[in-house]
Amino acid sequence: MSRKFIVGGNWKCNPKTYKECNELLKAWKKALPNVDRSKVEVVICPPALWLTSFTESFEGLGFGVCAQNCGKTDAGAFTGEWTAANLVDLGLKWTLLGHSERRSLYGETDEDVAEKVGKCQEAGLGVILCIGEKLEEREGGKTDEVNKRQLGACLPKIKDWDKIVIAYEPVWAIGTGKVATPEQAEETQKAIRAYLSQAVSSAVAEKVRIQYGGSVNPENCAELIKQPNIDGFLVGGASLKPSFMDIISAVG
Ligand code: G3P
Repeated sequence: MSRKFIVGGNWKCNPKTYKECNELLKAWKKALPNVDRSKVEVVICPPALWLTSFTESFEGLGFGVCAQNCGKTDAGAFTGEWTAANLVDLGLKWTLLGHSERRSLYGETDEDVAEKVGKCQEAGLGVILCIGEKLEEREGGKTDEVNKRQLGACLPKIKDWDKIVIAYEPVWAIGTGKVATPEQAEETQKAIRAYLSQAVSSAVAEKVRIQYGGSVNPENCAELIKQPNIDGFLVGGASLKPSFMDIISAVG
């Protein structure tokens, strides 16, 4: 079964200004690759304040817009939060959840992420579910155990697997320049798919798309995307450059 590739550009809390966003979008427009969009889906994850600021530009590039997070409740007295339903109301189809920075910097637990996945499923919002081990967990041989724990917490909340993408992002590769080797990423993502086959079904395991994230760039992406269990990328730093288009081109 051929799965549609999906490339995400996670801007995190960047660029610094609206002007810089526009400059980047202009540069992307000049370098836009001619790829078969029936085979490659691209979503951009701008900071929350700009989720609707560049919709026309993103649509003009054929890119979807993806939030980086959402709350775990319905509407109510939750200052500073927004709901999955708010994102659907804005016209979004995707959000990231469980990014390692949400877990490490803002104390999000596996249970928090699971609650959020449940709210997104209720709202019909697609989720790019981020999982991945820390360096000491990999060095301790606990990579698969960690991924199973993080993913397993969310399984009871998932009814519609068409609305789920998994992003395997080894924490030790995020922002470090130390990209996982194609062999490491393939081995781990194959194990994630095998876990889904056992815990959910072989049909779900076969169809769910699994991205790799962690120091992806135009130089290393071609070897990674050749791997049978890598269905795309979740790109951080390299998605803030004009050469992000080269990554899309390599996938397409
Ligand atoms: O969500 C993607 C991000 O965590 C990867 O960051 O800068 O290593 O590509 P980066």
